[in-house]
This record gives sequence, structure tokens and C-alpha cells, in this order.
Amino acid sequence: MDQPLGGGATAVARAHSNIALVKYWGKRDAALNTPAVGSISVTLAALYTDTRVTFRPDLSGDEFWLDGSRTDATRVSRVLDLVRRRAATDRYAVVSSTNNFPTGAGLASSASGFAALAVAAAGASGLTLADRELSILARHGSGSAARSIFGGFAEMHAGVAADGSDSYAEQLLEPADWPLSVAVAITERGEKSINSTIGMVESAATSPYYQAWQDSAADDLAEMRAAIAARDFARLGELSEYNCLKLHALMLSTRPALIYWNAATVAAMHAVRGLRADGVPAYFTIDAGPQVKVLCLPADSAAVRGALALVPGVHEVRMSALGPGAHRLE
Ligand code: PMV
Repeated sequence: MDQPLGGGATAVARAHSNIALVKYWGKRDAALNTPAVGSISVTLAALYTDTRVTFRPDLSGDEFWLDGSRTDATRVSRVLDLVRRRAATDRYAVVSSTNNFPTGAGLASSASGFAALAVAAAGASGLTLADRELSILARHGSGSAARSIFGGFAEMHAGVAADGSDSYAEQLLEPADWPLSVAVAITERGEKSINSTIGMVESAATSPYYQAWQDSAADDLAEMRAAIAARDFARLGELSEYNCLKLHALMLSTRPALIYWNAATVAAMHAVRGLRADGVPAYFTIDAGPQVKVLCLPADSAAVRGALALVPGVHEVRMSALGPGAHRLE
């Protein structure tokens, strides 16, 4: 049904998910989807979304298929509307996406999904956009997606402009510049309980820690940039854990509380601390879901994987290298 009609109306793109080491939580402008604070992430080779976009003259609205099921297209249309305006077309599109990992379980499927959508939609509409413009486009779908346009290490700028034009990500390092490994311990396969957009609004409205979270972001970003520039893994890891736990303190102090952890999440954190006590440099980070991502050096991958696999409640451990930026598949 979503066959190309010719004339460049179809494009397919792949984008990889990313994990923030310094995280954002909170929006500066809800309509533009600009984040309240900047963030720094690594893009993961092993987790990705493939998305096909076909603009067609016979549709009366956008259609979105996710892993084979027809799904609400509201957020997808927000990105497609920008592409249509830019490409001066009023054609709607069929979008079909597949993730090679569980969708909506805190594995950053929105990051890879909207980055792949931005690249495929731009391509299908015949637009040639610079990475910065693609990053802004992806941001309108999901804040974290702005970073998945880039491979390796990326930094998202919160920006100050009223139109969101300075709220985009940039690459800090290519994957090969500092090869690291990330273990993803999957502790739950289902959808997460509260989506991040809603959770962020609730934290900003109710947590007494929200202001402190915003005020301390610039220091974390500066320290992370320095750790990356110096290839200082211990500093990167320690700061990642600190920033992650600070975010979860903010989540826990939200009313009603955002408790994204399950028992296996907590057990995995202790396992990582145990690895460090045994001399293996490994550091965890956790997003808006129960999965635990563990940063380590490639030489320690097997030890980290083995330790996580032994944690009760961990269903599966996926290992990943750092991955490339979003790209066309044709
Ligand atoms: O932009 P979203 O809706 O995917 O939210 C991302 C939220 C966190 O993953 C917790 C933090 C981050 O910077 O990725």
C-alpha cells in the first residue's frame, strides 16, 4: 500500500537511539518542543528505527504504522506539517516504522523514531536539509530525537531564541574518536507507565527540586564536555550516574511521584556498583523507564554483560557500540 509513486515521493531512513549522559527534563516552550536545559548523549549502534515515508496525492490525512500496527499520527503529523510547509506540498504521507527493540519501554524509541522520520520525510519531499535543520525538525517530534541525527557523542543546546532556531544538537565526537560500549539491561518489555512529555510537565509544576535541576544543568554540561574532550572515562561515568540519580530524585519528588524503577532496576544499579568495587569501571544511567544502561570500556564488555545477566529480573542484556548518525537507506 505504501509503494513509491515515483518522482522521489518515497524515502527510507535509519536512525539509532541515543542515551543521554547529561539529561534534559522539562520544556522551555511546549509548542516548539524546546528543552529547558541542554543535554549530552551517546548514539547506540545496536538499537535503531527504520522509517519509510511516502507522500501520496490520494490521502486525506497522514497514516502512521508502527511495527505493523496503525497508530495515532498526531506527533508524526507535527513533523510532517513542517516538511510540507517547507516543500510547498499539501500531500499527506504514509509513514511506516519498525524498531529493532521494544517500543516505548524507555529505550529511546522516540529518539530514533523521530530522527528517522525527519530524514525520511525530508528525503521523500525532495528537500535537502543540513544536519542542523534535520535536528530542529526531529526536535519537534521528540526532544531527544534532535540528538539522534548525529552519531557518536552529541550535545543538544536548549537555546534562547523565541522561534526555537537555536535549539538543536551538534556532534561532539565521532564514534571512532572514543569507542565505548553500552550494555542495555532490559528489565521489562511492556510500555512505560507515564510518557516523558507528561512527566516533565508534572515535575515542572510540582517538584520543589525543579528549579535546582535547571540551575545545576550548565555545570554538568561543562564538566561532561571536559570529560569527553579529555577522554576521561571515570569522570564521564561518575558524572553520568550523578546526573541520572539527580533526575530520578526530581522524578520521585514530583506529585504524583514518577517511579520508573522496578526491583530489577535497583538490583542492576547495585550490580554495577559491585563491578566497580571489583575493579571494573562501569557506570549506569536510567531514563524514563525501568531499563538500565551501563557504560563501560570495550575490553570490559563481557564482564559487564555477565554481571547484568545474573541480576534477578533482567530478561536480556544487549551490548552496543557507539553508532552512526541518521541516514538514508537507499
Ligand atoms: O524527548 P523525550 O520525550 O524522548 O524525553 C527524553 C527524556 C530523557 O530520556 C529522560 C532524558 C534525555 O535527555 O533523553
